[in-house]
Parts: sequence; structure tokens; C-alpha cells
Amino acid sequence: MGRLNNKVAIITGAGRGIGKEICLYLAKEGAKIVVNDLGGDRDGSGGGKIADEVVNEINDLGSEAVANYDSVGTVEGGKNIFNSAMDAFGQADILVNNAGILRDRTLYNMEESDWDVIMEVHLKGHYNCTRPLVRYIRDTNRSDCRIINMSSVSGLFGNFGQVNYGAAKEGIAGFTRSLALEVAKYKCTVNTISPGAATRLTIDLIEAAGRKYDENDWTQGPEQIAPVVAWLCTDAAKDITSQIIHSQGGILGIMQQPAIIKSFTTDNLWSLDQLDSLIPELVETRKFHDEEVAEKGAPKKV
Ligand SMILES: NC(=O)c1ccc[n+]([C@@H]2O[C@H](COP(=O)([O-])OP(=O)(O)OC[C@H]3O[C@@H](n4cnc5c(N)ncnc54)[C@H](O)[C@@H]3O)[C@@H](O)[C@H]2O)c1
Repeated sequence: MGRLNNKVAIITGAGRGIGKEICLYLAKEGAKIVVNDLGGDRDGSGGGKIADEVVNEINDLGSEAVANYDSVGTVEGGKNIFNSAMDAFGQADILVNNAGILRDRTLYNMEESDWDVIMEVHLKGHYNCTRPLVRYIRDTNRSDCRIINMSSVSGLFGNFGQVNYGAAKEGIAGFTRSLALEVAKYKCTVNTISPGAATRLTIDLIEAAGRKYDENDWTQGPEQIAPVVAWLCTDAAKDITSQIIHSQGGILGIMQQPAIIKSFTTDNLWSLDQLDSLIPELVETRKFHDEEVAEKGAPKKV
């Protein structure tokens, strides 16, 4: 008996990489799967039916799956992806917003098209695919659904050459926090994953950073994200919502959320002379706070 029997999961961008591993893991736990993938290149161009290969692998496991080739980047595509689940299985319980591309450039060199397509696939993709599900949740009073969104340290921490991707990925964390409040009354959860794995998006970056990629090392591979996502979809995770769970390099962690860590108040409008001392004091406090958090966040072996 799998932990996800009787659940129907939609996984976007699931023809390869992290999404594919999530499909296989959820299927092994008993979920029926919609494998969505546009089948394009790393920069979002082109297309193909690579979702079929994952459907075949799932069928070989004795589980059920259907393919969908729509782009998450359009409202129409989002509706079609959701309808694939309804047409094939008559219900939807889990959505993993995973599809992704890269158009890395510094802002000096970034064209409008590089900005737009990243927003379209990543940030608007979350809107396009999630809206049909939440309307269904509301209209049918469906409970215990799970929405899992893919962010990135590129947005959460910042990364040179990725203002477009970073803005979208930070936006996805914000999307998660607000949506978690909206679906809470239906006992549905929304969480963010901050993943890290060697895939076609990252292998060349890993190698350019002087690290060797070993496909047999699970701490490098996309398979490490799958059990984390699967667990968040189980009943055991019914009260876990609005979190950012980090899974990378064999490390499982939780990110802090934005919070005020020190503040001042005053009776009159701030003067520049006051701010001469107050803002540096706030910044200094944050430095200590970050050091403390970094120390606490070091991985404990289990
Ligand atoms: N690999 C990492 O280290 C890493 C780090 C941080 C975040 N992420 C995020 O994780 C997710 C998965 O990335 P991955 O590393 O597995 O990459 P990947 O390239 O292996 O897989 C992404 C898949 O998304 C599909 N896709 C792209 N645009 C699409 C669209 N418009 N509609 C439907 N499918 C589309 C691609 O065809 C591809 O198969 C992405 O959102 C990525 O930004 C990955």
C-alpha cells in the first residue's frame, strides 16, 4: 500500500531532471500521474514528446500515467494540463510546479525577450497551472490537496547573471506564502522547494565551478528531491504549509522566512542624522543574525 494511493498528481516539466524523478517516486507510492513537458531546449525553444518516455517508465512500474505536452507559459496550457488530469482520472490532488528554463545574462546584456520568457515559464507558469486547481478546490470543496512550487537559491540568495530567473524564483516563494493562506480553509497546503541537483540546467555550471559530476552519486542527482516532495504530499504533512524546504547536495534543510529582526520607532519623521547611526546599526545586527543562522543551519548527520 503506497502512501499516495488514490491521489492524482500533475507534475510540470516532468520529462527529465527533477520532475521526472518526482513522477517516478509519486507513482511508486501509488499516485496516478499527469506527466507534463513541452520537451523544449534549455532556453525554452523547441518542443518534443519526451513526456511519453516517462509515461512508459511509469507504466512499466505497473502504475498509471498520461502525457501532456502543453506549455505552462500560457493560460490555455495551464487549463489543458489540469484538464488532462480530469479527463484521464476524474480528479486532481497534487500539483508540482516544476517546469523551468534558463536565460542567464547580466542585466547589461539582457534583452526584453530573456526577461519575458523567464517570467512566462516560471512565475506566470505557476499562475497558469495553479489557478485551475484552486478553482476546482473551491468549486468542489476538495480538501487535502498539495501544491509544491520550485524556487531556487538563485532567487532566495541572489546570483550573478540571473536577475530574470532570480526575480521569478523569489516571486515563487511569495506566491507560495500568499496562496497558502488562501487555500488553508480547504485543508490544502502550499510549499516551496529550494532544490539543487545535477541536471541539464546545471551540469555545465557544476563542472565550470571545478566540481566533478558523478551520475552514481545520489547527493548530486535529481533523485534526492523526489522523496522530499513525495513526503510533503502525504497525510503526514497535512499541517506543513508555507515552508521553504531546501534539498541539495544530500542536505535537507529549511529556509528562514523574511522577518523583522530589529527595529526602531520615533515620534517624528526620521532625520538623516538619526539614520546615519540607525541604518548601520540595523545592518550590523543582520550580520550577526546571519552568522548565527549559518551556524545553526550547518547539517547534522542523521
Ligand atoms: N537543477 C537544479 O540545481 C535546480 C536548482 C534550483 C531550481 N531548479 C528548478 O527546478 C526545476 C526543474 O529543473 P531541472 O533542473 O530538473 O531542469 P530540466 O531542464 O532537467 O527539466 C525541466 C523541464 O521543464 C520542461 N519545460 C521547460 N519549459 C516548459 C514549459 N513552458 N512547459 C512545460 N515544460 C517545460 C523542460 O522541457 C524540461 O524537461 C526548474 O523549475 C528549475 O528552475 C533546479
